[in-house]
Amino acid sequence: MEKKSYPSFSSRLGFIMVTAGAAVGLGNIWSFTYVVGSNGGGGFVLIYLLVLLFLATPIFMAELLLGRMGKASPPEALSKLQKQAGSKIPWAVPAWMGLISTIFILSFYAVIAGKVMGYGFEALFGGFGGWNGEQIADLNTSYNGNELLSAFWAGLFLALSVWIVGTGVRSGLERASKIMMPALFAMLLGLAIFAAIEGDFARGFDFLFGFRNVEFSAAIFLEALGLAFFTLSIGVGGIMVYGSYMGDDVSLPSATVWIVIMDLLVAILAGLAIFPLLFGAGLDAGVGPNLVFAAVPQAFAALPGGSVLAFIFFLLLTVAALTSAISLFTPTVQRLVENGWSRRKAAWSMFVPAFGLSILTTLSFGSWNDFYPLAFLGLDGLTFFDLIYKGTNNIVLPLGGLAFALIIGWGLQRDKVRAALSMKSDALFTIWYGLLKYIIPLAIIFLFVKTIWP
Ligand code: PHE
Repeated sequence: MEKKSYPSFSSRLGFIMVTAGAAVGLGNIWSFTYVVGSNGGGGFVLIYLLVLLFLATPIFMAELLLGRMGKASPPEALSKLQKQAGSKIPWAVPAWMGLISTIFILSFYAVIAGKVMGYGFEALFGGFGGWNGEQIADLNTSYNGNELLSAFWAGLFLALSVWIVGTGVRSGLERASKIMMPALFAMLLGLAIFAAIEGDFARGFDFLFGFRNVEFSAAIFLEALGLAFFTLSIGVGGIMVYGSYMGDDVSLPSATVWIVIMDLLVAILAGLAIFPLLFGAGLDAGVGPNLVFAAVPQAFAALPGGSVLAFIFFLLLTVAALTSAISLFTPTVQRLVENGWSRRKAAWSMFVPAFGLSILTTLSFGSWNDFYPLAFLGLDGLTFFDLIYKGTNNIVLPLGGLAFALIIGWGLQRDKVRAALSMKSDALFTIWYGLLKYIIPLAIIFLFVKTIWP
């Protein structure tokens, strides 16, 4: 199992940018605005920031560390560490759960990323320039209603991701993310400035940061936690794989801080760009998953050369989505490669279930938009998409994070963790370790229990 030539990134900057590319994706732009919008804004953002700092960031570090210590696919890495620790509990179980959930995440991720590509295509052929609000709303409705088109783009997005994962193009894409990430950043900044001038900035800003209506319920905390985990890609083993590529000379804590800051900045910038535009156009923040597709074209429609800018924006978002999708494929592909499969075969074998499941999300936005499959269990008002989205984000990711925290806090020896992390400050290590050992497990278990039995 121990391969001498285990791949690793040579430079610290390379590692940080590539891992940030895996973390930053639709979650930061599409989910962040949609979930914040649906939960009333500022109060929810405050809770998001709290859980990001105290729960998600320490777990991000834990997942990276487990990857760097185990140097294999997540199930193998954790079994290896389990054996070394002499534990009888099968540590690989949460890793397998993570691998299965990546297929479910990919299934809706592909539909949204496909729509981003579809909108980019529309822009390429002159769409949005000079359009009015009604035309933009109509495009959204007709896109969602055209299930074949939506499935086509979702399939294309998945095929593209599989092709990249299966061939060596990946390193090229990773190099590209060093350029694309700053470009996405600049684009969002530009949009935010435009939104500040043209949109209803005061209302957008107040919506995001006016900490009113804070509802400190367990369900809201769990929702914020799910969003924080999703935007940072933790809980499924994706980050563990990136950790396994991480050179031992790269400081894990400082890499974590940089990645979390970039991830958060993209989300905040997206919020600052999108909410003022939305309010400026007289739209409502609680519209759900179509929010980005309602607000962003409004901005480009009003700009000279808007179609070109819109095309660039959707292109950058596609690349951000691709780098994240790759990180969803990698843990399973890595595991299958350990069984002797070729990368290509491993990647394509995931295409079929991911694409098959994606049909459920496509239909949830189309003709099944009022079909609630688990209504008989009291889960009324939730489509297939809602169930898959909430099930993965609010249940599977926190459970994965919980498992990683328990493994670091209770499974491994403290000294071993201390040595592997090579954190300079003793005080910071003690805080991080204490959070993982006591606070985080208790908090996550408490949130689950309180959400089920309020
Ligand atoms: N973090 C990615 C995004 O924001 C999504 C993701 C979640 C990727 C979980 C991998 C694992 O788009």
